[in-house]
Amino acid sequence: MDYKLEISKLINLPLITAEDITPISDSKMGDFALPCFKLAKELRKSPVQIAQEFAAKIKEKIAKKANFLSDVVAVNGYLNFFVDPSFYLKSTLDVLQKKGKDIKKRGKGKTICIDYSSINIAKPLHIGHLMTTVIGGSLYRIYKRLGYKVVGINHLGDYGTQFGKLIAAYLKWGDEDKLKKKGIRALVELYVRFHKEAESNPAYDDEARAWFVKIEKGDKEANRIYKLFKDITLAEINKTYKLLGVDFDSYDGESFFSDKMQPVIDELEAKGLLTTSEGAKVVDLEEYNMPPCLILKKDGSSLYATRDLAAALYRKEVYDFDKCLYVVAYQQNLHFKQVFKVLELMGRDYGVVHVPFGMVSLKDGGKLSTREGTVVYLADLLKEAVNKAGQIVKEKSPGLEKTKVPKEVGVGAVIFYALASSRIKDVVYSQESALSFEGETGPYLQYTHARCCSVIKKSEERGENKENCQIDYKAVADDEALAVVRLLDVYHKTIENAADKYEPSILAKYLIDLAQAYNKFYFERKIIGEAAAISAGRLALTVAVRDTLKEGLGLLLLKAPEKM
Ligand code: ARG
Repeated sequence: MDYKLEISKLINLPLITAEDITPISDSKMGDFALPCFKLAKELRKSPVQIAQEFAAKIKEKIAKKANFLSDVVAVNGYLNFFVDPSFYLKSTLDVLQKKGKDIKKRGKGKTICIDYSSINIAKPLHIGHLMTTVIGGSLYRIYKRLGYKVVGINHLGDYGTQFGKLIAAYLKWGDEDKLKKKGIRALVELYVRFHKEAESNPAYDDEARAWFVKIEKGDKEANRIYKLFKDITLAEINKTYKLLGVDFDSYDGESFFSDKMQPVIDELEAKGLLTTSEGAKVVDLEEYNMPPCLILKKDGSSLYATRDLAAALYRKEVYDFDKCLYVVAYQQNLHFKQVFKVLELMGRDYGVVHVPFGMVSLKDGGKLSTREGTVVYLADLLKEAVNKAGQIVKEKSPGLEKTKVPKEVGVGAVIFYALASSRIKDVVYSQESALSFEGETGPYLQYTHARCCSVIKKSEERGENKENCQIDYKAVADDEALAVVRLLDVYHKTIENAADKYEPSILAKYLIDLAQAYNKFYFERKIIGEAAAISAGRLALTVAVRDTLKEGLGLLLLKAPEKM
């Protein structure tokens, strides 16, 4: 039941709505509070007096009939309401599934585009891509859960003169078999070698430019080789995507828009937004305290921003989105501010949102760095996490290391670490902390879920039949159980909050709270083997926690193994 609404009805004044009632974090003080300050003017009394008078009236009501409230007290101009524990427990469990269905309605008929991961061709997926990939991937699932139509877009960085260089290098020193075997690493090697040798052979750069022009003009050979690079990059990176559980609906990247920019330029021209500056075409943004947005270079070639403008128009046209999120590091804040301002000046008031995040660095990065320097391949990081998880699992539950559990735990640990703190914060990744089974980690959540599963299984084996048993709610609703109930009650609201703020960490923190509350309950209370009416209640709570953890973990891209 909606306590806020019911409490506001009890007050029965037009000035007070459910919004005015807020949950109290310290449950000793009550469950919900209503500040009476804004009533002072209308009732011509002090808030302290108002609170006292209301408290007395509501106490009478509570005494008269069994109520959803057990008590109400006036504290310094606030009314603090205590929810009746057994009622709270029962009603929360009763409506959990219905609430789960109801939140699906929120996004009905609405479309969200999410531009995330957005890798560059011929470059490895490195640790810097971790955040965009998992934040975007998680938001994708969260919005889906809320009933939105979601379009995941990998806006590939597949356009630019560097691909001319790569073709030139490939034709000089590369071969297809080696490339297919060594993948992206071979492409990186070719690129590095080209740069080195071009220093003493300036003609190489001319060759590279010529190849780039050929790609642009649709030359067959140039595009065949270019497609090979693209296929190799995507095949390799898709393996990591699969491991992380992320997926895309579109891979239309920068080159896809290379022939869709003219209409943008024409429109900017027609709307009088283009000016010429040192031979280049720009949109002047001085009025908005920003450097000009470069649209066309002196030689007529387009820029990153130009392609993003074309992409925004295209996405609006094709997907008719309500919102388009760009999950891209804060280093690109200015770029998006400029692009969004230009869209606005064009009169295209789209719901475009930049979702920035901080940087990831490695605590013990030395071991994982590649020879070229500081780049840490995400695939290597994940592989190491899975290996370590395997060792831990083997120690805890021998035999389990041969199942898919190490993979689910290792990969989950990395993902959760990236999602656990507010996205704007820089993260120092530590493999050891991420994989810890205690503390605020992915494995801790997974372990708690497995604990729930094992309790449920044991009770089933003992033939304790929860379905037919009347639950003694009064006996079950102790402090530890209520702490769990309070959290279960706000689960769906938490998903909505995470979506509204584009912040999976809100859900991550919530799940930690839930797991901690459940573990406290688990250690303090006997679940199996109590009187049937009590066991059944504690088991019902365990089932609700298991289901919530499983779904919540899924929304954060983590698997929920049943044994650990
Ligand atoms: N490929 C770009 C990079 O690695 C990110 C692209 C983000 N998306 C966009 N629409 N600009 O920096």
